[in-house]
Amino acid sequence: MSNFLDETIAAIRRKIGDFVPEFGIILGTGLGKLVDEIEVSHSLMYSNIPNFPISTVEFHSGRLIFGVLNGRNVVAMQGRLHYYEGYTMEEITFPVIVMKALGVKKLFVSNAAGSLNPSILKGDLGIIDDHINLLPDNPLRGPNEGDLGPRFPDMSEPYSKKMIEQAFDIAHRLDYRVHKVVYVSTPGPNLETRAEYRYMRIIGGDIVGMSTVPEVIVANHMGLPVFAISVVTDEGFHSDLKPVSLREIVEVAAQAEPKMTKILKELIAVQ
Ligand code: HPA
Repeated sequence: MSNFLDETIAAIRRKIGDFVPEFGIILGTGLGKLVDEIEVSHSLMYSNIPNFPISTVEFHSGRLIFGVLNGRNVVAMQGRLHYYEGYTMEEITFPVIVMKALGVKKLFVSNAAGSLNPSILKGDLGIIDDHINLLPDNPLRGPNEGDLGPRFPDMSEPYSKKMIEQAFDIAHRLDYRVHKVVYVSTPGPNLETRAEYRYMRIIGGDIVGMSTVPEVIVANHMGLPVFAISVVTDEGFHSDLKPVSLREIVEVAAQAEPKMTKILKELIAVQ
């Protein structure tokens, strides 16, 4: 790992000079507009960064964006990797390790998710307080990288309580519908059956999605505080399940995105 990491960091440093990002941002599918608010100083194609995974067509156009957001130095991933695309857990989480090595002190993550909780509706926002990992693999499996973190990382506060409170203050001031949620991660790519939605609700989930947890595990391993926010794009209420299409998910995500962007932007400014 450290040889790979050194090579990647050296290549990025040659491009960005001594720019030090304070915050890392990973934006979910259909939730990339926050990037438009960044005063960009450097934009690197993943395909030009050594050791960055780029095997899918979508990811080939991905970029790592460096710049200033609301007065703070950030690095943002435009284009996230999902397990269902065939990436390994190591590939999905390598960018988080890179961000930390570049100087990032906190990680911000967004995603689209389905609701399991009848009081959480399409278009609402979920501020993630905890998660249940139903992915069939773990990015920390294998020999532990002791330089990065401990063999058995603590997960008692996977999402920063302080940032959750700050985000609620911001959201309430803006009068947005927000909920504190437990996120269930599923490998996808199929959506859930009625029995699966019901099961996820019974085990304690409020929302379900196909991302986020691998990056959050690796951030916790390295002691990086995390804030994560979901846009609820569909309602997986098992007793009355309607078919959902990707088009609908992307449409709802686009409608609710400005609220999520505003919260993230304000939250970053108060760190
Ligand atoms: N299930 C899983 N992933 C999702 C969903 C869902 O209902 N909606 C958006 N991502």
